Amino acid sequence: MCTTQPVSARQPDLSESSLIPVLDEIIDSYCGTRGALIPVLQSVQNLLGFLPAPALQYVSRELNIPYSEVAGVVTFYSFFSTVPRGTYLVRVCLGTACYVRGGKEVLEALTKELGIRVGETSEDRLFSLEIGRCFGACGLAPVVMVNNTVHQRVKPAKIHELIEQYRSEGMQEREVQ
Ligand code: FES
Repeated sequence: MCTTQPVSARQPDLSESSLIPVLDEIIDSYCGTRGALIPVLQSVQNLLGFLPAPALQYVSRELNIPYSEVAGVVTFYSFFSTVPRGTYLVRVCLGTACYVRGGKEVLEALTKELGIRVGETSEDRLFSLEIGRCFGACGLAPVVMVNNTVHQRVKPAKIHELIEQYRSEGMQEREVQ
């Protein structure tokens, strides 16, 4: 199995006093850049793991972009999240090719294995489950992405094994933190 670097399981400090200097630094680095909103949001999410409402409000104010527009961008792009995600973001492709080759059964196996539904994060904050609409690997369907790693021709019967590998990797990472 390929491995990816898990993001920290620790909760980021979301107090205003911690958030503002960090957001200022990110916003300043895009000062004068046209279309700065999306890269700013990406940087904030990379840092915090998700986009909390106070951060969105601050970005809206500082970039002088209406909050409704900022919220609209966050809603439109599926890679943005306003809720904390797990260390591993598991995305099941339900595009046409993956769907007809068993994507739905793979999703069912994952919901069972993880004990969560689409859009939820496991209690241990190791896994979040989402669906995707084609990852550009249709010839290798059905496809599951875990963070940035593509798993091809995934079989429902292999889901337990796949998740167990990430589970043990994630737990080991936590132990050394
Ligand atoms: S439909 Fe799943 S990768 Fe294209």
